[in-house]
Amino acid sequence: MSPASSPAAYNYKVVRQFAVMTVVWGVVGMALGVFIAAQLVWPQLNFDLPWTSFGRLRPLHTNAVIFAFGGCALFATSYYVVQRTCQVRLASDRLAAFTFWGWQAVIVSAVISLPMGYTSSKEYAELEWPIDILLGIVWFAYIGVFFGTLFKRRTRHIYVANWFFGAFILVTGMLHLVNSAAVPVSLFKSYSVYAGATDAMIQWWYGHNAVGFFLTTGFLGMMYYFVPKQANRPIYSYRLSIVHFWALITLYIWAGPHHLHYTALPDWAQSLGMVMSIILLAPSWGGMINGMMTLSGAWHKLRTDPILRFLVVSLAFYGMSTFEGPMMAIKTVNALSHYTDWTIGHVHAGALGWVAMITIGSLYHLIPRMFGREQMHSLAAIHLHFWLATIGTVLYIVAMWVNGITQGLMWRAVQEDGTLTYSFIESVTASHWGYVVRMLGGAIFFSGMLLMAWNTWRTIRGAQPADYDAGARIPLAQNGEIGR
Ligand code: HEM
Ligand code: HEM
Repeated sequence: MSPASSPAAYNYKVVRQFAVMTVVWGVVGMALGVFIAAQLVWPQLNFDLPWTSFGRLRPLHTNAVIFAFGGCALFATSYYVVQRTCQVRLASDRLAAFTFWGWQAVIVSAVISLPMGYTSSKEYAELEWPIDILLGIVWFAYIGVFFGTLFKRRTRHIYVANWFFGAFILVTGMLHLVNSAAVPVSLFKSYSVYAGATDAMIQWWYGHNAVGFFLTTGFLGMMYYFVPKQANRPIYSYRLSIVHFWALITLYIWAGPHHLHYTALPDWAQSLGMVMSIILLAPSWGGMINGMMTLSGAWHKLRTDPILRFLVVSLAFYGMSTFEGPMMAIKTVNALSHYTDWTIGHVHAGALGWVAMITIGSLYHLIPRMFGREQMHSLAAIHLHFWLATIGTVLYIVAMWVNGITQGLMWRAVQEDGTLTYSFIESVTASHWGYVVRMLGGAIFFSGMLLMAWNTWRTIRGAQPADYDAGARIPLAQNGEIGR
């Protein structure tokens, strides 16, 4: 039975659920981002309350944008892509539904527990052990659904996007298991099983690969499907995509120590992290070029297609942040950038420019198809959103570059007698206007998300949810293979 002839060919219900929640959590997580950015401009906004303090809301922001917004986007797109490229329904509808409700339960637990001050204090893995266990079970179910679907595929080849999604799913599971190993001492308190420099190393092996596999590899899966689809062209080079895949996953896993330069970590481990990070530039740019060149012969489409603009500009930011990252991994550069806002700028060049923009572009492609609509309710709103997102990101990162370099230079300035030229508070005062500009940039980006929420609402209101679409008959796997 061909997918198009069977209305229930694919499980799009779970895709719809995750897609809508991506928009919802995107709005929530970025509202929090703007709020904590405002706290750095006006500290009074901490309200002298523990629950609303920067220290508690900051991890809530990172968890909300990475795991709620980014996570829901990855679930939605991986379930969509694996079904369409394997020409088969998800391996289990029940297990897929469990991943949706389980993932929302993890997020809601984070929203409650983090402001209350329950934290393991491991960055990007702050959730306490009972939530960690739930997260582990959900992830295990995700592995079952995704790989089960790959296993029963009707196509001979596994399209390259699934390789990236598969690696992201497996490695994230592994990272979570290893890094979250802890000894519980009460229902809401546990201690890591690792100690000292080992704990730090494990934490940044996790932290860096959360970036590498969660925020990069998974979103590259998105790139390999949605860029060719939206441009209506085969991927530039299928061969390059295979080299890109193996080089990326082999190198990323070694680069974690660049987060621990000049610490108690053995020197050789720091140097290894630095070297691997520099080499990482090659596969990162290989992937970016593969995505960009997919548009060769179709560049004119950028003039009229705002979705393609989102996708292509996200690749430009990906290229920029993966150039900046290896530079910051060089020990002498890191001596200037570490602890400063430069790092925050680098993070958001990746997070807003790459992760959020590729997600937004992919969702604008996916949402109307999931709800039986030709396209989003308002194309003009997507055009406007594109500019808000681009201007917001640029303001954010430029403000952080200026602040970061100012801070780094002020902290290292010494007088002839060897005493510091500036006190720490002077560098905080010097950062004030950078924080104002970052808050404005964030607010502009956030207003684009509100526009997207409105556009999504208007698109799905009264729409007929669709469980198949005509395009499903053209397997992208074959499409991809015609690439050079
Ligand atoms: C070749 C690719 C990349 C390399 C080599 C790299 C390297 C680095 C370096 C050296 C730091 C600063 C560490 C420190 O001084 O503490 C850093 C921080 C960070 N990067 Fe990257 N980066 C890359 C790509 C990306 C991308 C694409 C993203 C986002 C999607 C990203 C997200 C982050 C985050 C979240 C941090 C901050 C971690 C923390 O301290 O909390 N990176 N990266
Ligand atoms: C409206 C958009 C956003 C605004 C205004 C915003 C603002 C902020 C602020 C103020 C911080 C704290 C910086 C500090 O500690 O000095 C932060 C941290 C962070 N944000 Fe965002 N953010 C936004 C969107 C995002 C998105 C979409 C992501 C990920 C997909 C993200 C990931 C992170 C990460 C990983 C950190 C921790 C950085 C580090 O420790 O090095 N943010 N954000």
